[in-house]
Amino acid sequence: MNRILDGEKIVLGVCYYPEHWTKEDWEPDLRKMKENGIEAVRIGEFAWSLVEPEEGKYDFSLFGEFLDTAERYGMKVIMGTPTATPPAWLTGRYPEVLNADIQGNRFHHGGRRHYNYNSPKYRELCCGIVEKYAEHYAKHPAVIGWQIDNELNCETCLFYSESDNLAFREFVKKKYSSLKELNEAWGTVFWSQTYSDWEEVSIPKYMNTDAVNPHLQLDYIRFISQSACEFAKLQADILRRYVKEGDFITTNGIFANVDYLRMKKESLDFLTYDSYPNFAYGLDGFDAEDVMKDRKWSRNLTEVRAVSGRFGIMEQQSGANGWNTRMEAPAPRPGQMTLWTMQSIAHGADFVSYFRFRTATVGTEMYWHGILDYSGRDNRRLAELKKISGLTEKIREAAGSAYEAKAALVRDYDNMWDAGLDKWHERVDRVSVRGIFEAAQLSHTPLDFVYLDENTRLETLQKYQVLFYPHAVILSKERMALLEQYVAQGGVLVMGCRTGYKDKNGRCVREYLPGQARKLTGTDVTEYSFVAPDEGKILVNWDEEELEAAVFTDSLAPIGDAKVLGTYQNSYLKGEPGLICNAYGKGKAYYFGGAFNRETAEVFLKKLGVSEPYAETVKLPACCELAVRRKGETAYFFLLNYAKEPQKVFFETPVKNLYTGETISGSYTLEGYGTLVAVKN
Ligand code: GAL
Repeated sequence: MNRILDGEKIVLGVCYYPEHWTKEDWEPDLRKMKENGIEAVRIGEFAWSLVEPEEGKYDFSLFGEFLDTAERYGMKVIMGTPTATPPAWLTGRYPEVLNADIQGNRFHHGGRRHYNYNSPKYRELCCGIVEKYAEHYAKHPAVIGWQIDNELNCETCLFYSESDNLAFREFVKKKYSSLKELNEAWGTVFWSQTYSDWEEVSIPKYMNTDAVNPHLQLDYIRFISQSACEFAKLQADILRRYVKEGDFITTNGIFANVDYLRMKKESLDFLTYDSYPNFAYGLDGFDAEDVMKDRKWSRNLTEVRAVSGRFGIMEQQSGANGWNTRMEAPAPRPGQMTLWTMQSIAHGADFVSYFRFRTATVGTEMYWHGILDYSGRDNRRLAELKKISGLTEKIREAAGSAYEAKAALVRDYDNMWDAGLDKWHERVDRVSVRGIFEAAQLSHTPLDFVYLDENTRLETLQKYQVLFYPHAVILSKERMALLEQYVAQGGVLVMGCRTGYKDKNGRCVREYLPGQARKLTGTDVTEYSFVAPDEGKILVNWDEEELEAAVFTDSLAPIGDAKVLGTYQNSYLKGEPGLICNAYGKGKAYYFGGAFNRETAEVFLKKLGVSEPYAETVKLPACCELAVRRKGETAYFFLLNYAKEPQKVFFETPVKNLYTGETISGSYTLEGYGTLVAVKN
């Protein structure tokens, strides 16, 4: 059992950079961490040039000494492998390790994650330094686990170096047994793109339009994901040979173009996530009308939980954030550090580590504030940390419990990546994922994301009464068969416009739509269009309710015994079916002609009987989040107030306030940014 997600307690940590401070700073800093409830520190992830100042010459003393000091203070240490920041001697001597932009311009030394995953030289050098780190530090008693690199695919998630080009060619050669097959899969007959020699095949290159072949692009994204996964695995395989019994391997995410299910399975014990909810208040793109703001991070946490049931937070925001080039987020207001910590815990994290203990006095990140400012003097945020550690101790029995949801949103990487490349897909996907998530949040309906891939089992889907799979544009036979079984055995599946019109290569299918989903949904899509900007809201009735068909309208017709539940109420579609329900085995499948905005999704949650499952226990205003974690018979209720004003909640049945041990029933006031963890046996 590892020593931070042990199911016994909630552990707090910080990110710390011993190399940024003098050795005389370490002891007072460690003491201060300890006094304020910190039990773990992450170190080392950007320090390659310190440990290998010249090629093949190593100096392990600084971290060695730090580990000894940490051990004296009973501090647990997570070591980061330093491959995100190759030293100047390395990129100078082996420039082929660098990534490039789409025009082929190589990046230069000085930033981070400016390397590419496929350079054989970089892989060799990374294996070398990881092995050295592991040899020297893995057996140290203070070390409890490892972080691979830092935020794989952050900074850039696109790779255009020559090594990537060559590796991509090998990737497609392996995938397609002949050029004929590749030409077919990529539809190269279009615009005279046909390849007659493997040498002609390349990663996307700079062109006079942004119109890179979409099927090539989809494979390119799959290739990037594979490259990131392989890069993580190279390191994990080395670390596994050295780590002590019970020590873990993780990496911090989540970023685009990575299949984290695969990465987790191949390389990680669990995933960690970097949570900066105050990005919502950044000066660029701040939307005062957006009701979610920092609460949006609950969606990211839902995503992490979906790929890694047990997870931790490697970087939790604890100060104002920005680089000298960016003004990102204001300081957490009093109470918000606690709120965001509890938000992470509510969604399942039993380890929360703050970024960073002390704010750097030099470099690009000197405005990325941590708990302490430059001087290291005690401050308000440190005092709040101390209180948080008191609370996490009080709720320690909740450790090891699991987030509970009866409804889920189905996700899969093929569709997520296709939506990233295809504007038509992207618009419906963006509206629906946001709409369904917000509807669930605001109606206090805990929601999971659930990933569909070749390994997904029926039991995983059967945990949910209702599944939303809003725009399964790409559908395979195997995935469809699983969904059919889920419904046949009593599940309820909701699908929306644009379902089933592409195959695995992202090519449009010739079957009548929704392609593979026709049988299950009992629906025929006879025509479709996106909603014209001068059309206004297009509505579909469902009994007394009205649903907006957002972004898109599929014209529908029922097949066989399927029932028309709603018709379009206006526009030229007036009178045509817009919502169909098909009874299938013991369950039901719904097909809705549009995308699901928040109001529409709210109606579905209500009508399908999954809205507000805990209303008999607690009623709370929309601006507060409710999350429930369960261990056996015990349900832990997390109430989170994102508003700065106090909010009244009402307990219909008595519960125990875990912070104080008191019983609460009836009316209760959550302070502005206040939280509560209550237990009902
Ligand atoms: C994170 C990263 C940290 C730090 C922080 C501020 O994304 O993992 O290393 O750089 O951002 O930029």
